[in-house]
Amino acid sequence: MFYSDEIIEEIKNRNDILDVVSQYVTLKRSGRNYMGLCPFHREDTPSFSVSPERQIFHCFGCGVGGNSINFISKIENLSFKETIEFLADRAGIVLPTSNNAEDTEKQNLKKKIYEINELAANFFHENLYKPTSKLAQEYVKSRKLDNKTLKMFLIGYSGTYSELHYFLKQKGYTDKEIYASNLATITDDGKYIDRFRKRLMIPIMDVRNRIIAFGGRIIEDRKDTAKYINTNDNLVYSKGRNLFALNLAKKSNDKRIIIVEGYMDAISLYQRGLDNVVASLGTALTEAQGRLLRNKEQVIISYDSDGAGQAATLRGLDILQNLGINVRVLQMEGAKDPDEYIIKFGSAGFNKLVDNAISLVEFKVKTLKKDLNLNNVDDKIKFLNQIAKVLSTVNNKMEKEVYIDKISEEYKISKEAIYSEVNKLEYANSTSKTILEMPKVKAELYIPKNEKISIDEKKENLIIKLLIMAQYKVYKELKEIIKPEDFRNEINRTIIEKLYQKYEETNADIEDFLILFDDEKVVNKLSSIMMENEENFDVDKCLQDVIKSFNKEKLLTERNNIIQKLKNSNLSSDETLKLENDLSKILVKIAQSK
Ligand code: GTP
Ligand code: MN
Repeated sequence: MFYSDEIIEEIKNRNDILDVVSQYVTLKRSGRNYMGLCPFHREDTPSFSVSPERQIFHCFGCGVGGNSINFISKIENLSFKETIEFLADRAGIVLPTSNNAEDTEKQNLKKKIYEINELAANFFHENLYKPTSKLAQEYVKSRKLDNKTLKMFLIGYSGTYSELHYFLKQKGYTDKEIYASNLATITDDGKYIDRFRKRLMIPIMDVRNRIIAFGGRIIEDRKDTAKYINTNDNLVYSKGRNLFALNLAKKSNDKRIIIVEGYMDAISLYQRGLDNVVASLGTALTEAQGRLLRNKEQVIISYDSDGAGQAATLRGLDILQNLGINVRVLQMEGAKDPDEYIIKFGSAGFNKLVDNAISLVEFKVKTLKKDLNLNNVDDKIKFLNQIAKVLSTVNNKMEKEVYIDKISEEYKISKEAIYSEVNKLEYANSTSKTILEMPKVKAELYIPKNEKISIDEKKENLIIKLLIMAQYKVYKELKEIIKPEDFRNEINRTIIEKLYQKYEETNADIEDFLILFDDEKVVNKLSSIMMENEENFDVDKCLQDVIKSFNKEKLLTERNNIIQKLKNSNLSSDETLKLENDLSKILVKIAQSK
């Protein structure tokens, strides 16, 4: 599907860069721009900048930049086409349907799946209240779910054989469509039957409240089948990219978000007054899921207290931490999971745990301690060694001191001992430490903050900046004097070539620069040039200066070339004469240009 410039323009207009970025990054106003911690590499001080005026972002730390399309494409890891669809969706823009048969068919099928899911959810929900669903009603009661909760989550109960399939066929849907939504399976003798049977049905919604999948729980103790079966990934659902109840948590005013393992945990916490809970849908937390939480100030992991839950906590911590998220771990005793805890100790009890959630460092230290006996000297040394490793990952000095105080107190180890171990490690690792702080972006994108750019490149950047600011008018003046070939930096040359070509074609100002380029490196470079400050910038004077110095530099290069040639002893006298002639002309010009 090829999207027209008009559509892309509308998508950009309706997805303001500040709104889009704010969903992933906490931004603070700073003059005309907004600053925050870069989501594309790890950093402690903000170097990620958003300009609402220019509708671009740029990170001065790792060099990435672009418009809202570039941002979404990078952060959601989507192709251009997928990004357009994502942003259209976000802004409620209906994209023109394609004339490509395959695309149209896929779009239609997607639409049908959403409809089927919606009908199925209501079918299951109504079924739960029927006299034939006594067992399910009792189960719901035993789980202490009240009617308001059943309605709020549209919880239901599936039939015994193929009631849903029959119902959907009556509504006009085909076997293929029902199968594509993963609500039917085919038996050995080729018949379609419901995939979910005699299960408590929990619809999963996306952030736009569309039903995209179901989780189905057994209601009796059965050993012959899995406790839950869930919709498999299909055209509308990808379990690693969604979080249960995010559509609800999104509306919360709380700056924290709690992530639990089970649907039931989330549902139970909502019923008891929490409004900022999501569940990770039974998979290990994925990076894509983590990214959905990035706009929250703090993410609190509240997994089950068993071994599996704690192992999942550690993995989740690392994923979230690497995304630059401030993450904490909720510590629970006296119950196996949040559902059980809140039923036992009430919402006040649970909220206390939320407030006392511990940091990543504290959690890691605590986990280390579990397998060790600190009365044993060997273990104590081991412990000291390992906590030093954890502590040395903390970049902030004050934060580190606070942790050391805490650990010293809690585990009765002298502060001096901890400090000495940490220092020893940091000294030994002083080179590897820089590796730890390396941004987590593709190496080719990484331009270190302090890398010196050459004078030439600076001048080239300035020319591009002029072309962007004063546009066509500058092009007309420059085109005869400075050619793309004159640019030495390859990226700059690509930019200039394209801009020249575009100005030549349109004979007018260019509306949007970034859209002209596909190459990520080019977009990053261009956004950095665009982001530079331009107050008190005299375009005309700058232009004249640039032209003058460019001309002079060209003359100097020519002069050097001739001198180089003259050094060649195999020249005929004619050739020598000609070169000397050229040289003297150039020398005159150089003298005049001073
Ligand atoms: P209850 O046991 O009813 O309290 O449900 P729960 O939601 O608390 O589930 P639990 O903590 O056991 O598991 C966490 C999540 O993992 C569930 O919500 C499901 O998404 C998923 N899950 C659990 N058991 C299974 C299973 O047997 N198969 C699959 N595919 N997923 C499961
Ligand atoms: Mn549970």
